[in-house]
Amino acid sequence: MGDIAALILAAGMGTRMKSGLVKVMHPLGEKPMIAWPVMAARAAGAERIILVVGHQSEKVRGYFTEEGGLDFAIQEEQLGTGHAVGCAARYFSGFKGRILLLCGDVPLIRHATLQALLSVHEAGRAKLTVLTACLENPHGYGRVVKGEGGDVIRIVEEKDATREEKSITEINTGIYCIEAEFLFEAVSGLKNDNAQGEYYLTDIVKQGAALGKKCRSFAVADTEEIMGVNDRVQLAAAGKVLRRRINESLMLSGVTIIDPDNAYIEEGVEIGADTVIHPNVHISGATTIGSGCVIEPSVVIRGCTIGNGVIVKAGSVMTESILRDGVAIGPMAHLRPGNELGEHVKIGNFVEVKKVVMGEGSKASHLTYLGDSTIGSHVNIGCGTITCNYDGVSKHRTVIEDNVFVGSDVQFVAPVTIGRNSLIAAGTTVTRDVPPDSLAIARAPQVNKEGWKLKKRD
Ligand code: UD1
Ligand code: CA
Repeated sequence: MGDIAALILAAGMGTRMKSGLVKVMHPLGEKPMIAWPVMAARAAGAERIILVVGHQSEKVRGYFTEEGGLDFAIQEEQLGTGHAVGCAARYFSGFKGRILLLCGDVPLIRHATLQALLSVHEAGRAKLTVLTACLENPHGYGRVVKGEGGDVIRIVEEKDATREEKSITEINTGIYCIEAEFLFEAVSGLKNDNAQGEYYLTDIVKQGAALGKKCRSFAVADTEEIMGVNDRVQLAAAGKVLRRRINESLMLSGVTIIDPDNAYIEEGVEIGADTVIHPNVHISGATTIGSGCVIEPSVVIRGCTIGNGVIVKAGSVMTESILRDGVAIGPMAHLRPGNELGEHVKIGNFVEVKKVVMGEGSKASHLTYLGDSTIGSHVNIGCGTITCNYDGVSKHRTVIEDNVFVGSDVQFVAPVTIGRNSLIAAGTTVTRDVPPDSLAIARAPQVNKEGWKLKKRD
């Protein structure tokens, strides 16, 4: 284990959320809430992270299955923050470094603040350094009581505080940097003789002070960072802060966001300069967008790789697809996973594509379904074309080579291959391969019955 580890408390249910879902798994900024303190701890240098989980622990674990350096300590019954820390003790036996202690429901903490906390802790040669905040209204928080030298001698919970203590405005944020050896020795001696009958982690300060162990404080500059999320009103407020951070950083890097309160972009999404993001756009997953693109209103993009100069018109939904430079999508197009669209491909309104590779300059402009297809370059797919790719048991491929012109209302009953430069007449149901340079036409001959009168019922 490295010199810095993190311990994140997340065992509580979060009853004020009034939810069947454990609090820390509520979505916040396109990720579960718990992902944020984990990212902050990681970015601050914590090589190993232990999450204390209890309620719905399997859901929390499930989210982090692919994350290395992360372990879970189970706290069956929530007997207080001190007890929660004790549950993780076995993961730290022999560890002599320092621990960043965070709360799963304080998601706005920045890694830079944690790094500053670590520096202050080291410079002060303290056993414990608590991150504090000075609040106009400290109600509900633990108050930080200091001795003459400025060291912290006690942290007292609101419910246990005297009137005088309640008038202290410097509060405990619940975030600390603590020497591991001190922490686990101290929590093993905690008692629960207080107003809530809980094992308070905060009591280790008083205990330490009595033994001459130095406890210091570091006040956070931006109190927004230490906001706890206890109900859905605070969840929405925290979401807004995260959105603002992400969107401001994108805007400063050259992206135009028309209404930053209304652009929902996941942390980690990359967007190039001079791309314009319209309102109510949702972008998530491992998505990269090039420069000079336009993403119109109400577009949803998940896990896509998008080149330069791409336009995605209003109301389109795109998942796990690759779009080369100059592609135009929508309005109201649906790209399901697995497409690779070449330069200047056009996918127009009410077109659905799935697992389609399309060459440069090809177009499907209106009302079409293309699935499991390989389409060459400069192919025109007429309005209403359907690949019949599924026979009820298996999926089959449609191959359409370069420069094919497909008329309107054509069905391709796959598997089928259309050779290059061929023309498929409107209304044709293609059931056999078409050789190159051919015309394929399959229509019932038209019959005109002259002198036909519509019989009226009396
Ligand atoms: C705690 C602090 C208080 C501080 C406040 C900041 C104590 C005794 N008090 O109070 O000084 O001002 O945080 O928000 O520490 N948890 C567990 N298991 C438990 C209890 C809690 O995992 O048995 C987790 C919760 O899920 C939560 C965090 O610890 O993520 C904090 O617990 P909470 O009950 O909210 O602490 P507060 O009473 O707010
Ligand atoms: Ca509590």
